[in-house]
Amino acid sequence: MNNLLKTLNKASSHLTILNKKYPTSGKTNVTPNIINHVGLNLHNNKNSPIYTIRELIENSFDSASYRKFDKYNTFEPVVTVKKNFDDLGFPADHVGRSKSDTYYVNNTHLLRTHTSAHEVECFEALSNCNDHQDPTKSSLVNGHGYLISADVYRRDEIDKTHYPVFHQMEGTKTWTRMNPETQKVMLEEIETMDGLMKKNFPSLTVEDKDYVRDDDKHENSKQEYMTKEETSLVVKHMKKSLELAVATLLKHRYDHDALKDKSFKNPEIKMRWIEAYFPWTKPSFELEIYYNNEWLEVLGCGVTRNSVFKNAGMESENQIGWAFGIGLDRLAMLLYNIKDIRLLWSKDKRFTSQFEGRTGEIFEFKPFSTYAITTRDVSFYKTKEMNPNDVMEIVRDEANTWCYSCELIDEFHNKKVDKTSNTYRISYQNLERNITNEEINAINDKVVDRLVAEFEIEPRL
Ligand code: PHE
Repeated sequence: MNNLLKTLNKASSHLTILNKKYPTSGKTNVTPNIINHVGLNLHNNKNSPIYTIRELIENSFDSASYRKFDKYNTFEPVVTVKKNFDDLGFPADHVGRSKSDTYYVNNTHLLRTHTSAHEVECFEALSNCNDHQDPTKSSLVNGHGYLISADVYRRDEIDKTHYPVFHQMEGTKTWTRMNPETQKVMLEEIETMDGLMKKNFPSLTVEDKDYVRDDDKHENSKQEYMTKEETSLVVKHMKKSLELAVATLLKHRYDHDALKDKSFKNPEIKMRWIEAYFPWTKPSFELEIYYNNEWLEVLGCGVTRNSVFKNAGMESENQIGWAFGIGLDRLAMLLYNIKDIRLLWSKDKRFTSQFEGRTGEIFEFKPFSTYAITTRDVSFYKTKEMNPNDVMEIVRDEANTWCYSCELIDEFHNKKVDKTSNTYRISYQNLERNITNEEINAINDKVVDRLVAEFEIEPRL
């Protein structure tokens, strides 16, 4: 009965998110647990480490720019499929569009999967702004930049570095082409950034092949409408801006350590650039940093594709620019040494008291006692197609932050019965207190009941 009710509830005809009502459809897969996260906006909460990471990156961008960046930190998370995917040139069959990866509100609306969903509307605003049309006004020459921070949503695996809601910052800067003044300003800004790097981060090394492909057929070449020189200049400006932003965060952490310990020496900072692919930038890159003995990917970026300017109604061949997207949660975890992503959402005093009144500081987080992790294996035969993310979502919905991880640990085909068996290992842990076996069993039973009701699995004992 319980399951039947759940299924019926799921089929209700409307959903409300941030006081707006949306009709549901067969595509709807947002859950109440996810909707409860909408509006929490950790990036705007002064007592969250994510706020500090955001603010420090914003300041770094402004520190080397003639014209300050416009900041948008309150865009709502429900956007159209058009904004999140179509306008950015995602192919129709891109996995990102699938129901197993994305939370759909209905056929036309979803919870944004990245902040790039707002690029086109920012360019639209830019093309309508008189300031930009008037050659005597600064944005024509000095470039016009946006920094957009927001909560983003992805159906993903469950482990200590993945949470279905996280935060990203998008940044773009755009210039009008063919203006000798523009080039001068770009070069001057690059020089300013070089100066700041040399002064503040003398030990920084950056591995970069530092070339722009001009074979227009290559996936990561320059775009046809731009010259190689222009592309190189935009890429250089973008890379320097991003190196400076990431180095600024690391410096904040190291300066804090040095204050506490006079013998502290800045560890060697290393970064490297890798070629990448995004449907809305060309060429595209990723930045990795070497931290605690491993290389970690921190951001994606590239030269804005002409098609994106066109979709925003701009004189597309007159524009050049770059765009990047950076995840704020993992950077916060790295820099404060927070080992479990669920802690970022914790209301436990032992977590929150460490951050209250310390906006702008980066320091070592002091872990508090952790509670036992209890594991349950769930084995069953599949009777219809299902994606591991579907199982994760049910676990997430029933266990919320009590789930530490969920993993498909075994899959085999039983020839005799001609059925495929799956075993998922679900680990439960409450960050704030011990949980009893009865509590865990109750949650785990609900997970199994829902797998039976929604995917007709046959449990194996
Ligand atoms: N939106 C991309 C992501 O989420 C990052 C990105 C932003 C890449 C802007 C290029 C330009 O991975």
